[in-house]
Amino acid sequence: MKYKYEELLKNMTFEEKAALLSGKSVWQSRNIDRLAIPSIYCSDGPHGIRKQAGEGDHLGLNASLPATCFPTAATIANSWNERLGELIGEALGEEAVAQEVDILLGPGLNIKRSPLCGRNFEYFSEDPYLSGKMAAAYVRGIQSRGIYACPKHFAVNSQELRRMAMNAVIDERTLREIYLEGFEIAVKEGNAKAIMTSYNEVNGEYANENKHLLQEILRNEWGFDGIVITDWGGSNDHVLGVAAGSNLEMPGCGFDSALELIAALENGKLKEEELDRCVDQMLDAIFALTGNGNKKKTDFDMAAHHNLARMASQESIVLLKNQEDVLPLKPGCKVALIGDFAFEPRYQGAGSSMVNTAKLETMKGLIADSGLVCVGSERGYTRTGEESAALWKDALDLAQKAEMVLFCFGLDELSESEGMDRMHMRIPQNQITLLEALVKANPNIIGVMSAGATVEMPWHYCCKAILHGYLGGQAGASAMLDVITGRVNPSGRLSESYPLKYEDTPAFRCYPSAERDSEYRESIFVGYRYYDTSNVRILYPFGYGLSYTTFEYSDFSVEEDGVSFALTNTGERDGAEVVQLYVAMPSSQIFRAEKELKGFKKVFLKSGEITTVRIPFDDKTFRYWNVKTNRWAVEEGEYIIRIGTSVADMRLEGVKQVAGTGDACPYEKEKLPQYYSGLIQEVSLAEYQELFGKPLINRRWSGELSANDAICQMYYAKSRLARLVYRVLTNMRKKSEEKGKPDLNILFIYNMPFRGIAKMTAGMVSMEMVDGMVTVVNGRFMKGMGKIISGFFRNRKANKEYERKLSVQAKQG
Ligand code: BGC
Repeated sequence: MKYKYEELLKNMTFEEKAALLSGKSVWQSRNIDRLAIPSIYCSDGPHGIRKQAGEGDHLGLNASLPATCFPTAATIANSWNERLGELIGEALGEEAVAQEVDILLGPGLNIKRSPLCGRNFEYFSEDPYLSGKMAAAYVRGIQSRGIYACPKHFAVNSQELRRMAMNAVIDERTLREIYLEGFEIAVKEGNAKAIMTSYNEVNGEYANENKHLLQEILRNEWGFDGIVITDWGGSNDHVLGVAAGSNLEMPGCGFDSALELIAALENGKLKEEELDRCVDQMLDAIFALTGNGNKKKTDFDMAAHHNLARMASQESIVLLKNQEDVLPLKPGCKVALIGDFAFEPRYQGAGSSMVNTAKLETMKGLIADSGLVCVGSERGYTRTGEESAALWKDALDLAQKAEMVLFCFGLDELSESEGMDRMHMRIPQNQITLLEALVKANPNIIGVMSAGATVEMPWHYCCKAILHGYLGGQAGASAMLDVITGRVNPSGRLSESYPLKYEDTPAFRCYPSAERDSEYRESIFVGYRYYDTSNVRILYPFGYGLSYTTFEYSDFSVEEDGVSFALTNTGERDGAEVVQLYVAMPSSQIFRAEKELKGFKKVFLKSGEITTVRIPFDDKTFRYWNVKTNRWAVEEGEYIIRIGTSVADMRLEGVKQVAGTGDACPYEKEKLPQYYSGLIQEVSLAEYQELFGKPLINRRWSGELSANDAICQMYYAKSRLARLVYRVLTNMRKKSEEKGKPDLNILFIYNMPFRGIAKMTAGMVSMEMVDGMVTVVNGRFMKGMGKIISGFFRNRKANKEYERKLSVQAKQG
C-alpha cells in the first residue's frame, strides 16, 4: 500500500485534502466531521505551557492558563543533564495533556551564533552536540506522555531582526556540522514526531519550501516520519511548501492557501501524489494524537512540578567566581539584599514562550527562611535604566550594615525578547554604576545574575563571588538561596562562552545582516570553536563552572568504542562534576576547530567517593561533512582525545588511530587562508565565495518593495502614506520600549513581510489584497486600492464558496 490511510484518502475530496493542510484557527488544525477526522491543538512553548484560555491571538494578548514555568532552555543547558531534560519534558507533557494540547511547540534549539540574538534565552547552546542531546531529552520526555514535541526553528534561524524576511547564506559543511546536527540528534535520538520550519530562507529558498532540508535531509537521511509545521505566519508559498513536504500551514488563514493548492493541482504545479503524501502524514499524526488511550494522564501534581522546577534551577546555576571561598555563606551570616530583581525576578523571556506562571518565588520573599540574617532589602536601581539618587542612597546605606551584599542584577525584560535582537552585550549601566559604588561601601559583594544570554562583564572584579542563575523559572529564587547557603553544591557549567567584549565574537562583522542576505562567513567557527582555535582571550570558557568541592581525574584509557577514567570527589562536600570529552586532529587536512565537544556526562559523587566513568564514541565523534563527496566522511589518522572540565581546562589526554573513509580533502588550502588559520573575522568576500562553492546570491533591496519584504522596510517606500505608517509603527515601538516591556505584536508586525498580513488575519486578507497593498506602498495608490477593494470582495466570496462546498460534501456523506 502506498499510503497508510489509502481508503480514507480515496474518500476525501480535493477541497477536504487542501483544507486539512492549513489551520482552522490560531492553534488548531481543521476537523472534517464527515470523515471523523478531528482537529489537533498546538500550544507554546518550550519551558511551560502557554495555552490561551480565551480566543487565541498568537502573541498572547489573551492570558494563558496558569502553568509551571520551568527554567528556559539556555538555563537547563547549563545542567548538562539529559535525564533532567527528560524529567522536564515529562512534566511539560503532563501539563499539556491536562490542558488538552496535542503538540507542544518546542524545544527551541537554534545555535547561538551571536550573543545578540533576542531569542538566545530560548535556545540551548552554541554547540550543536550539547543542544541536540538536551533537545532529544526534552522530546523523549514530552512524547512519553502521548503528545508530540515540535523542535524548532528548522533551520539556521539565529537572528530576530527581520527574521521573516532574511536569507541565511551558509556553506553546506557549516549547515550540516553546526546548524543541523542538533536537529539531527533530536530527530534520531528523540524520535521527534513534529518539526517547525523557520521563517527565514536558507540559501535562497524558504526553509518551509526547502526540499534539501525537508526531503533530502530530514525525511530521507534522518528518517523523520512525522509532520512539518510552518512557524506562525511563516508560509511563503503554500504550494511550494506542500511540494517540499511541509504538512501544516499555521495559523489559520481562511481558505486562501487551500485555494492555492487546488489551483496548483489544476495547473499542474502540484502533483496529486505530493498532496496525498502530505495529507497521509497529517492523518497519521491526527489519529496518533487523538486515538483512544494514547494520552497517559489528565491531571498532574502542581507541587511536584514546582519542586522539579526548583531542582532544575539548582542544577543549572553556574558559580563563576568564588574568591577566598566566600561561598557558601554560613547560617546566621548578615546579608543585605539589593537589587530590583530580588523583588521581581527575571525568570523567563518575552515572546511566544512566555508562561502565565502558576506560582512565583522571589529572593525577598524567601530570604527570611534561608538561615541567613537579612538586615534589609532595597531595590537599588530602576528596571528601565534611569538613575535614581534616592534608590542609590538607600542601597549604599544598607550595604554598610551587612557582612555580605547579595546584589541581584542582570538583563532587563527589553533585552531578551522574541522579535528583537540586542544592540549590545552590556548589562544596563545604572545597575553597573550602582555595583561600582556598592563595592566601595562594602567589598563583600556576591553578584547574583539573571540573564538568558551572555553579557560583557568588565565589572566582575567588583564581586567576590558571582552566581549566574540565567533565567531560573518560577522556583529560581529558592534554588539560588540553596546554592548561596550551601544546601546545594553548584554543578552548572556554561553552555556558551563569555567573551571579554562583543567585538571579539566571531560573527561580529556579519551580524545582524544589513540586507536580506545574511552571510555566515565565520563558517564552523561559532563560539568556542573560534576562541579556542584563534587563541582569543575570553572571560569564562564554554563548559566552565566552579564547585564547592574538588574532583580528580585519573587512569585514562582510550578504548575501541569509547574512553574510561576514574573520577574522585576529593573535597569535603558531595557534588556533581560535568565531565567533557573533546576531540582534536592536529594533522587534519581540512580546516577544523582546535577541538570539539563529542561527549559529556554529569556525575554525582559523595565526598571521598571514586567511580569509573565511561563515555562512548558515537557516529559523530570523528566525522566531518565533505563538500566534494557530499557525505559524512572520516579522515584517517591520529586523533587526540581529551577529557576536560571546560574547553580550556583539560585533565586527561590520549590518542586514537582511526581508519578513514578515504574521501579526498575537499579544500585547496591556499585558497582558504583565514579558515585554515581560524582568523575568520577577516574573511574576504572572495575567500567566502571560495568556501561557499557556488555563486553568492547577494540580493539587495532594489527599490520596489515586494510582498516578501519586511514591513519595517517601508522606511524606503515610495508612497508617503507608507512612510507615515512606518513612522507611526516606529513611534509605537519606541514608546513600548520606554515602558521597559517589549510590545510583541508591534515587534512582530515590524519584522513581518507584507505577505504575513494575509497569513495572520484568519482569512480576512488574501494574497491578492496583499499585492494591492504592496502596489500602494510602491507609490501607485489608485491601482493598489483597486486591487485591495476588488480582492476583498473576491476573497470573501471565495471563502464562502469554499465553506459551502465543504458543507455540501459533508451532507452528501
Ligand atoms: C514563534 C514560534 C512560536 C509561534 C507560535 C512564532 O512567532 O517564532 O516559536 O511557536 O510563534 O506562537
